[in-house]
Amino acid sequence: MANAWMETVAEAQRRAKKRLPGSVYSALLAGSEKGLSYADNINAFSELQFAPHVAGNHAERDLGTRVMGQDIALPVLISPTGVQAVHPDGEVAVARAAAARGTAIGLSSFASKPVEEVTAANPQTFYQMYWMGGRDVMAARMERARRAGAVGLIATLDWSFSYGRDWGSPAIPEKLDLKAMAQFAPEVITKPRWLLNFARSRSLPDLTTPNLTQDGPAPTFFGAYFEWMQSPPPTWDDIAWMVREWGGPFMLKGVSRIDDAQRAVDAGVSALSVSNHGGNNLDGTPGAIRMLGPVVDAVGEQIEVVMDGGVRRGNDVVKALALGAKAVMIGRAYLWGLAANGQAGVENVLDILRGGIDSTLLALGVGSVQELNREHILVPEDFTRTLGAHPSRALATD
Ligand SMILES: Cc1cc2nc3c(=O)[nH]c(=O)nc-3n(C[C@H](O)[C@H](O)[C@H](O)COP(=O)(O)O)c2cc1C
Repeated sequence: MANAWMETVAEAQRRAKKRLPGSVYSALLAGSEKGLSYADNINAFSELQFAPHVAGNHAERDLGTRVMGQDIALPVLISPTGVQAVHPDGEVAVARAAAARGTAIGLSSFASKPVEEVTAANPQTFYQMYWMGGRDVMAARMERARRAGAVGLIATLDWSFSYGRDWGSPAIPEKLDLKAMAQFAPEVITKPRWLLNFARSRSLPDLTTPNLTQDGPAPTFFGAYFEWMQSPPPTWDDIAWMVREWGGPFMLKGVSRIDDAQRAVDAGVSALSVSNHGGNNLDGTPGAIRMLGPVVDAVGEQIEVVMDGGVRRGNDVVKALALGAKAVMIGRAYLWGLAANGQAGVENVLDILRGGIDSTLLALGVGSVQELNREHILVPEDFTRTLGAHPSRALATD
């Protein structure tokens, strides 16, 4: 049944695979090199175990929390992704789904929909930027997001332009015009529902980045990527500048080391996400959940710590919160929901996670996500990875 309820994220992934052209599915799966970090993000969760109670449990559980100044109904945020060609409503559908389920969305600056449309669909929007184009250009982009009503900024800093993966990278055309469609015809023709969605919306998949222009035409995805590759990487002074320039809730995304976390605190950030970019970047970085505890211990009293990478079920969320995360962010899980069934598919995925968190709290005898702590899980001795406890001299003396 096409629109039937999906009971797990694994089912959403199966349907996404069936529905999307191979190159689009492959772009969503992403990962890099050998896929070590991608796999560890997911598999590490399996090493954490629960110790449930059988009586005296709570009849009602409270899943609400507050992150980056926003009250949210469940401790799950939408992580920013450049959602190209998955669904004609793209990030607007995701924003509506998040709003319907009471949570916030991180909007990628590489997104296919303008920030103004996304904030209109969900006032709890955080705008995500990479360090690209220099301070003036960045200040102008921040100002546009602020005027559109974005309530927080996410700076993603863990990208190092890795490329190549052992299972192959999809060929993504510069523009999806008719010529490119003809070239992709053999794989597109076998995916009638995906094509039908776009035909109904009278548009071809959009491979431009409308948030990376002030008034001129939107650059193409590859044009923008080129600008980014040519931008020198930021210093910690640049990050402190960015925090001041934004002047509101600010999350640094992509932290793995505790020395970087401490520097982020010094730079004035209000939150950080422990993350390896979903395993899409430097392959061999440990699974994000392994790096969470040490970062929480280092800076969790001063700023909010969230994590992202590998979250596929409600009990993954509970494990992350037990290790000290305020919330988690999800990437592929909602992209698969979007591909499978548009806005309703994303709502379905958020409901799967909500149900899973709730049932895990019931089993653990916990009445609220705020009560979760390390006593609620078993952490094997060799589980944790503490990075940056002994800062290298080069970094410590700049
Ligand atoms: C297809 C794809 C595109 C992404 N694009 C961005 C992006 O534009 N900005 C960003 O900060 N992170 C981006 N990410 C990383 C996600 O925000 C998040 O860190 C990651 O997906 C979390 O892992 P998960 O997919 O296992 O949940 C992207 C991830 C994927 C899979």
